[in-house]
Amino acid sequence: MSRSIRRATRLRPVAAPGDGLGRDLTVLGVLDGGSVEPTYIAWHRANWCPVVCKVMTSPQRARREVEVIGRMAHPNIVRALGVDGGVHLLMPYYPGPTLDRLVKRPGRRIGVSDAMRLAFHVGAALVHVHGRGFLHMDVKPGNIIVAPGGHPVLFDFGSARAIGTPGPGEPIGTDPYIAPEECLLGKASPANDIFSLGVTIYEMLTGRLPFAEPGKSDEFPQVSADAEPMSAWRRGLARSLDDLVLRCLDRNPEKRPSLAALLPELNRHIVSGPRMWPAGFSPQDAARPHRKTSKRRRRALAPA
Ligand SMILES: Nc1ncnc2c1ncn2[C@@H]1O[C@H](COP(=O)(O)OP(=O)(O)OP(=O)(O)O)[C@@H](O)[C@H]1O
Ligand SMILES: [Mg+2]
Repeated sequence: MSRSIRRATRLRPVAAPGDGLGRDLTVLGVLDGGSVEPTYIAWHRANWCPVVCKVMTSPQRARREVEVIGRMAHPNIVRALGVDGGVHLLMPYYPGPTLDRLVKRPGRRIGVSDAMRLAFHVGAALVHVHGRGFLHMDVKPGNIIVAPGGHPVLFDFGSARAIGTPGPGEPIGTDPYIAPEECLLGKASPANDIFSLGVTIYEMLTGRLPFAEPGKSDEFPQVSADAEPMSAWRRGLARSLDDLVLRCLDRNPEKRPSLAALLPELNRHIVSGPRMWPAGFSPQDAARPHRKTSKRRRRALAPA
């Protein structure tokens, strides 16, 4: 979301439980977050089910967000149920805290394996988003719901942009997560989302942000400063994991790993609990059966 839209619309009136919304909705409760567009859990009287209703600032924004989400079909991505009354974007309700809540518990950091599993799922969601021709542009713990069982769901496509289209002329996203090239209004690419995912991983593992919010000067620190290694805040992290996350935060988008390179690396750092690949199979193994087959064939040919 652009910084000016956020500033201009922060003080919107909020409906209370029991209030009607549009034709078919009754508000059940106000959801956390929603710094710009108030978001409610509401009862849909016609469909007789609970829904999430995000009250958008304009019908155009509602239509755009529902269209983008409508192009996605992935277990780690929110679904859209349509737009009601012009500005009410309806979605299924996903129970669970946002990752933000888990990261911000005082003194609690997420275990390496759990953080890697969450990051892997979000990375898989981003592979899908990019494959469908979009950039999410606002990846952050506040836009990831951790549903029961630890299954993360990426939502809030209000800032999404079709790959190759120009931005609105001001940085899009949430300040500490915005890639340096977006801060400078440069060309946006999948590497933007990889930077934001890197900030999210850094926050999960250390409980702190790699770059502070812009100060009074309105300058983004990520444009000129390098992030401190995570080992400065958390002992015992593998050096290779620290390096990997720092590479995601590289100021040069071309030096960041692609998702294809990042996902197997994240998987390698899952050391307890289920790995992301089916038991007995890992991306490194993908090459092994191949080598075995050719060896066997040579042996079979030898006696003849
Ligand atoms: N489908 C959903 N299921 C459950 N909760 C949801 C769902 N969609 C949104 N929420 C809740 O509503 C809040 C606001 O949603 P969203 O992030 O889409 O709005 P926003 O105005 O763009 O917020 P921000 O600018 O803070 O990112 C989220 O932080 C989350 O707590
Ligand atoms: Mg949001």
